[in-house]
Amino acid sequence: MVAYVKNNFLLVLIVVLLLFVVSSYAKISTKVTTSEIRGICTHRDVNASFCYEFMKSSPQIATLDISDLAKFLINYDFQKTLDLMKHFQSLTNRTTDRSSRDSYKLCSELFSLGIHSLEIAFKALATNDYDTLNRTVGNMSDYAEDCGSELSSVIKPIPQLLKGVSIVQNVSDIFLVILECFLRKEKTLC
Ligand SMILES: *[C@@H]1O[C@H](CO)[C@@H](O)[C@H](O)[C@H]1NC(C)=O
Ligand SMILES: *[C@@H]1O[C@H](CO)[C@@H](O)[C@H](O)[C@H]1NC(C)=O
Ligand SMILES: *[C@@H]1O[C@H](CO)[C@@H](O)[C@H](O)[C@H]1NC(C)=O
Ligand SMILES: *[C@@H]1O[C@H](CO)[C@@H](O)[C@H](O)[C@H]1NC(C)=O
Ligand SMILES: *[C@@H]1O[C@H](CO)[C@@H](O)[C@H](O)[C@H]1NC(C)=O
Repeated sequence: MVAYVKNNFLLVLIVVLLLFVVSSYAKISTKVTTSEIRGICTHRDVNASFCYEFMKSSPQIATLDISDLAKFLINYDFQKTLDLMKHFQSLTNRTTDRSSRDSYKLCSELFSLGIHSLEIAFKALATNDYDTLNRTVGNMSDYAEDCGSELSSVIKPIPQLLKGVSIVQNVSDIFLVILECFLRKEKTLC
């Protein structure tokens, strides 16, 4: 009887260990693959060179599965958007040239709308609300694009600022491709 219990205990232990190994293996196998990255970065809506650089920019990215990658992109966008909004606000206050000041003010308003959109996007990601994600992140991309063209009329454009704005736009566009090509079940746009 004691031997039986011991054996049983051993069996349970083995099953538990096996389950652990299988589940961690399953996790490894869902990491985003090189061919998935290629699929994302060569999509017509994405700037390929930017996309490949971005995917290499953080070692964390290689450890993520596709839905965590989507979350990573929104997080990244959110941080950048917040920084840019603050930067535009302070430029608005400091700039004396009327026309440049108006451009900065518009950008600060666009990025403020963007923060609101991305906050909604975070919630939509948690509930797999893909239509809301498409709309909110699509809006973010549009806001960044509008700000970018607005900045072209500024007298002394700040290169870092222009770059930051285009990063937000490009990261949003990568997110939208992941959404339509990987997260959505019916892939009408891929
Ligand atoms: C984002 O993509 C646009 C359009 O392809 C490109 O002109 C721009 O340089 C890219 N931004 C960055 C930071 O690479
Ligand atoms: C993609 O972005 C890079 C800068 O990162 C730019 O040099 C290049 O022209 C862009 N490609 C396209 C097709 O717009
Ligand atoms: C800019 O000015 C406004 C109103 O004068 C003020 O509320 C805001 O805190 C200022 N922002 C920055 C970043 O200086
Ligand atoms: C996502 O939004 C774009 C417009 O921003 C629209 O053209 C497209 O049809 C939308 N995708 C889906 C699947 O609804
Ligand atoms: C988002 O974009 C849609 C059009 O694609 C527009 O109707 C809507 O007002 C925008 N939302 C915000 C908060 O700007």
